[in-house]
This record gives sequence, structure tokens and C-alpha cells, in this order.
Amino acid sequence: MAYNLLKGKYGIITGAIDENSIAWQTALKCHEEGAKIVLTNAPIALRMGTLNKLAELTDAVIIPADATSTEDIENLYEKAKEALGVEKIDFLLHSIGMSPNVRKKKHYADLNYDWFQKSIDISALSFHKMMQVGEKMDFFKDGASILGLSYIAAQRSYPNYGDMCQAKAVLESIARSFGQRLGESKGIRVNTISQSPTVTTAGKGIKGFNVFYDYADILSPLGNATAEDCANYCVTMFSDLTKKVTMQNLFHDGGFSASGMTEKLIDKMMSEVEE
Ligand code: NAI
Repeated sequence: MAYNLLKGKYGIITGAIDENSIAWQTALKCHEEGAKIVLTNAPIALRMGTLNKLAELTDAVIIPADATSTEDIENLYEKAKEALGVEKIDFLLHSIGMSPNVRKKKHYADLNYDWFQKSIDISALSFHKMMQVGEKMDFFKDGASILGLSYIAAQRSYPNYGDMCQAKAVLESIARSFGQRLGESKGIRVNTISQSPTVTTAGKGIKGFNVFYDYADILSPLGNATAEDCANYCVTMFSDLTKKVTMQNLFHDGGFSASGMTEKLIDKMMSEVEE
């Protein structure tokens, strides 16, 4: 059911690659709620052509941009102005993450440092770049809402999440620093959503992902949040209903981050002991 929460709003959604992507689901919801959007992804990801389907479904234009390149981001914003027919946008979703070390299953004590820098550049500094370029171009409307997507491994140790733990910690920190700046100057909100493990291309690239997934699910009173659940939360954060929420890392994880133990986990452990 749609509520027209984003009627009259314009935004940019990064990072949709297939229908499992959190960004894909978010684009669908934003469209459903009345927003006009531009979709973007790295040129190499667009070669697969899958994004065309989402563009059709959401009546959106696709503008390629490597989020590590300030020139590409400038070009994205210029072209988005033309495509949307506005000078400024109301919301931006940064839904970008990639670690060559994680992808190539490098052990945490055997990291390739060039790749480490790539992980940080792609997964965290790109968030800063998108805001820095946007501020310089005066591209964000007063009261706009900017979101990044994080994971609890920013704050707790998680084997196999490797250098992405550091990348997410940087991402969350950037949200606070830029959030303060943009809040004071233009009433703009900047937050990160810390999402449950979700079955996506990025998610599945993590060794032992199924175990992360099942463990989080059983330790979350509400169960894991899906990509669609996350999309709904993003819509709320882009809407006018959350105007005073900023500089936060917002857990969207079915209660996992606040759980010590759950009945579901006790039952599972007990049944395994009894077997
Ligand atoms: P996904 O694989 O569908 O999306 C990641 C996107 O990043 C892809 O579309 C990819 O093309 C894009 N990307 C990579 N390098 C890029 C670059 N240089 N420039 C522009 N785009 C680039 O996976 P998912 O899970 O939807 O990821 C979205 C965000 O959610 C990421 O920040 C991820 O870390 C975060 N997240 C994912 C969780 C999960 O379990 N899947 C849990 C918590 C957070």
C-alpha cells in the first residue's frame, strides 16, 4: 500500500544491480511513493543490462558513474538535473559496497593493502565524495535526506567481513561529520541504516554468509529484515516524517543489535545438546 510519502520529491539511487539489491527494492518503493528518480551504477555493472528493467518499472533514467570518481559524480549530478528537470534533489541513497579482499577470500592477517584502499575508496570515501561534490554544486535541497547502508560489523568484530569492517566504520563516521555540517548549513539529514544480513550479490560474496544470516535471524526477535523491509525504512527516512533524525546509525535488524539471547536460540542450542 502506497502513502504518497515522496510525492513531489526527486532523488538519486545508486547501487541497484539485480532485483535482490537493496537499492533495487528501494527504487521500486520510492517510485511507488510518488518520487521521481535517477538510477546510477558503475559503468562496468551497467554492462550486464539488468538495470534497464528497473528503469522501465520506475520510469527512471540511468546515468553511469563510478562512485570513486569525482568527475563521474559531477557528471551524474549535471545529467540528473536535466533528466529530472530540477536544479536540486531531495534525497540520495548510497548503496555501494565492495571489497576485493573479501571477494578474493583474503584472510584478515593477509590483506592486500592496495585492495584495502580500494575497499575504503569504493565503500566509504565514495559516500563522502557524493556529499562533497553535491555541496559544492549546491545540488541538495534544504531539508534533503542522504542515506548510506551499513552493517553491524562496523562496531563488532566479524570474521570473514575482513576490511569491510573498517570501511563500514568509516562510512558511519562520515555520516556524523557531514551530517553535522549539512545539518547546520541547510537542515539536511545524513544517516546510515545498519541492515540485517541480506541475500544479495554483495552479501553472498562473504565467506560463511549463510551462517551469519541464520545466526542473526535466530537472535533477532523480529527475524532478519529483508531488502524490501529496508526499502520501506529508506522511504521513511526520505520522507518529511523524519526531519529531525540526523547523524545516526539506525539499526534495522529485527532487534539483533540489542539482543543478548533469544528463546529461539536457547531452543536450538538445547535441541542440539539433547540430540
Ligand atoms: P549489491 O551487490 O546488490 O549492491 C552493491 C552495489 O555496489 C552494486 O550494484 C555494485 O555495482 C555497486 N558498486 C560497486 N562498486 C561501485 C563503484 N565503484 N561505483 C558505483 N557503484 C559501485 O548488494 P547490496 O547488499 O544491496 O549492497 C548495498 C549496500 O548495502 C552496500 O553498502 C552493502 O555493504 C550494504 N549492506 C548489505 C548487507 C547484506 O547482507 N547484503 C547488510 C548490510 C549492509
